[in-house]
Amino acid sequence: MTHPALLQTHDLVMRFGGLCATDHASLSVTAGEVHALIGPNGAGKTTLIHQLSGALAPTSGRIVFDGMDVTTQPMPRRALAGLVRSYQITSVFPKLSVLDNLALAVLAHTASPWRFWSPARRDADRYAQAADVAVRVGLGAALHTPAGVLSHGEQRALEVGLALALRPKLLLLDEPLAGMGPEEGERMVALLQDLRGEATLLLVEHDMDAVFRLADRISVLVSGRLVATGTPDDIRRDPVVQQAYLGDEAGAIP
Ligand SMILES: Nc1ncnc2c1ncn2[C@@H]1O[C@H](COP(=O)(O)OP(=O)(O)OP(=O)(O)O)[C@@H](O)[C@H]1O
Ligand SMILES: [Mg+2]
Repeated sequence: MTHPALLQTHDLVMRFGGLCATDHASLSVTAGEVHALIGPNGAGKTTLIHQLSGALAPTSGRIVFDGMDVTTQPMPRRALAGLVRSYQITSVFPKLSVLDNLALAVLAHTASPWRFWSPARRDADRYAQAADVAVRVGLGAALHTPAGVLSHGEQRALEVGLALALRPKLLLLDEPLAGMGPEEGERMVALLQDLRGEATLLLVEHDMDAVFRLADRISVLVSGRLVATGTPDDIRRDPVVQQAYLGDEAGAIP
C-alpha cells in the first residue's frame, strides 16, 4: 500500500534575480518518515525550507500540506496546521528560563481552546506541558536555567522543544547538528531518533553520518534541482549523487 504524502511540493521555483535557487523542485514527504534533504553548499536547501515554512513566497509552484494548499498561507497559519520549522536561536528568550520559554510556545499554540478554563487551571496545564517537553528534549534538569546560559547543544535542544510545543505534524530542521561537538551531536541524533513516530521530520544536514543513520529516505538537491530521492542505500549507490558530491563531500557519504 502506498501512503499519501504529508507534504508535496509541485515545481517549486524561487528566483533571486537571475539565480534559480530552487528549480522546479517537486518533493514528496510521507507521513511518519524521517526525510533528509542533502546537497552541496548553495544547493538551495535552506531556500526550500524557507518556502515550506512560509518565510519566503515561491516565485511559482505549489505546496500542499496535509491535503491543503498552503502556498500563500502565512507562517503562523502553517504552524497551526502542523507545519513547523525549528528555529535557530532567534525564537529563544535568553533571560527567560527553559520552562518559561517552553510555556510561551505552548501558549502560542493552544491559547484559544483555553478561553473557557480558569486562569489558574490554564497556567498549571501549560506549565505541565512545558515541563513534559523539557524532559522530552533532555532539559529536565535545567527547567529553571535561563536559556541564555545553556550550552550550545542545550540551546539547540531547546529550539527543538519550542517547535515540539507546537505539536508539529511535520518538523522542518535546518542543520540541527551545526556547530556541535561529537557528544552534543550524538545527543541531538538520539533526540531526533526519539521523535520518530511523534512527528514526521524533514531534515537538512551536512553531517552525512547522521543523515545515513537517521533517514528513511533522502532527497538530493543540486543547483536547485532535486536529482534523486531514495533510501539511504539507493542514494549511496546513485551515480548522479556521487557525481554531484565529487570534490565536495563524496568521501563523507558513509
Ligand atoms: N535572499 C537571497 N537573495 C539572493 N540570493 C539568495 C538569497 N538566499 C539565498 N540565495 C542564494 O541562493 C542559493 C541557495 O542558497 P541556500 O542558502 O538555499 O543554499 P543551501 O543549500 O542552504 O546552502 P548551505 O548548505 O551552505 O546552507 C545560493 O546561491 C545563495 O547565495
Ligand atoms: Mg543552508
